[in-house]
Amino acid sequence: MNGRRGWTAALVAGLCAAVAGNFAIRASTASNAPASTASKATASTSLAPTPAPTSVALPAAAPTDTGAILAHALAGAGLPAARPDAVVAFGRELFFESRLSGDGSRSCASCHAPDKAFADGEALSRGYNHAGHFRNTPSLLGLASKTRLMWDGRYPIESLADVVVDMLVSPVTMNADRQIIAERVRQIPPLLQAWQRAWGERTTPTIDGIVAALAAYSASHGNEENAVDRARAGDTEALSAEAREGLRLFEGKAGCARCHSGAAFSDGRLHRLSVPENPEILRDPERTIGLLRHHAVHGARDPMSEQIDSGAQAWTHRASDRGRFATPSLRGVGHTAPYMHNGTLATLAQVVDFHDRGGGRASELQPLGLDARERAALVAFLEALSPPLQAESAPPVGDYATVAGAGR
Ligand code: HEC
Ligand code: HEC
Repeated sequence: MNGRRGWTAALVAGLCAAVAGNFAIRASTASNAPASTASKATASTSLAPTPAPTSVALPAAAPTDTGAILAHALAGAGLPAARPDAVVAFGRELFFESRLSGDGSRSCASCHAPDKAFADGEALSRGYNHAGHFRNTPSLLGLASKTRLMWDGRYPIESLADVVVDMLVSPVTMNADRQIIAERVRQIPPLLQAWQRAWGERTTPTIDGIVAALAAYSASHGNEENAVDRARAGDTEALSAEAREGLRLFEGKAGCARCHSGAAFSDGRLHRLSVPENPEILRDPERTIGLLRHHAVHGARDPMSEQIDSGAQAWTHRASDRGRFATPSLRGVGHTAPYMHNGTLATLAQVVDFHDRGGGRASELQPLGLDARERAALVAFLEALSPPLQAESAPPVGDYATVAGAGR
């Protein structure tokens, strides 16, 4: 797909393929299995640490596979017919609906706030009531072009629906019950109508259709071309001279594109930068519990002794993956401070300084020796990856009511 404007068209095409039953998932990494199984299956193959450093140019255009990604998410809904634009519209209603959470206290938008680039502007995510989180809330901008999800890369993009389920049911995010979610959607008339516009008058809300719509809406932001895409497509006016210098450094001397490559500016691989721990995690017992639970559910041998975020090791179970995280996407990065998996770096200038120093102790980065002008040029380049945010307001809230046609 050329540029990012074909998003809806791709969704329509992908969805039609999915409902016609002839959609084939990409064989290499696709998996519908739960996180733990999927992770183990892919651990030894697709996620090796990056080999020897070389200078790599970014691709001239930034292709996305949005249609295929969404087709896969929507195929999981197992429903006969749908109007793709209405599925995204239904997903928007759900995204702001706090009654999808266990106690009705928070929605997806509570953490992935549209006016904060679908992140929350906090170093660490607040988590659910009395169940603190131990990671930063990632932005959902450009989700469709990512290849691995979560800071530790434990899900491939093909498992986006599994990530949405994780968000809904995990006790550290929304703590909900799948059947209760579907029942609540049946009993909120505006949501039921939005469901029927998306999936058909005769269908009854199911958790799979709800999850597919949330996945479709989540992947519908930040896919438009940015100034860097335009510059790379030959538009000489697209970037300031300083940002152009930053692009040259990014691809060349500073070696950033070695890891931040491809459509999302991420190689989808695991790297050790040795970002310092965020002391708040051990200072706040609720966050510590979140961290211990994470290691326990992923089968750590001695979860109670884990005092730090072990990164990808928690799910690959390889000692060599300790402290490795997946290269994050850089689309929209100017809007997503604070940075890194634990939010310990407040500004892009700090992130560039950190990479320039060669990262933390035992990092795989090498010191770069950039001067102040070069570091400023890299910051200007990163800001150019971030077009202005589009305004998005919450839909009106509907009251509960039981209505005919809710499928019971
Ligand atoms: C309590 C805060 C919170 C809520 C509520 C929440 N999320 Fe998240 N979300 C997070 C955090 C934190 C992560 C990263 C977790 C990790 O890396 O282990 C995340 C990760 C994600 C990702 C992966 C993004 C990426 O680039 O890797 C997606 C997609 C996502 N959330 C969608 C949703 C949707 C849809 C909902 C509502 C059903 C939701 N989230 C509700 C905090 C939240
Ligand atoms: C060896 C691979 C590698 C190289 C080379 C690299 N990065 Fe990174 N970068 C990462 C990883 C991995 C993270 C996330 C680390 C974490 O959260 O612990 C990251 C994080 C970032 C972030 C923060 C993103 C966010 O959403 O929090 C920015 C910005 C960034 N890098 C820019 C750069 C720039 C600029 C360069 C070149 C000077 C560069 N990177 C070189 C792997 C790399």
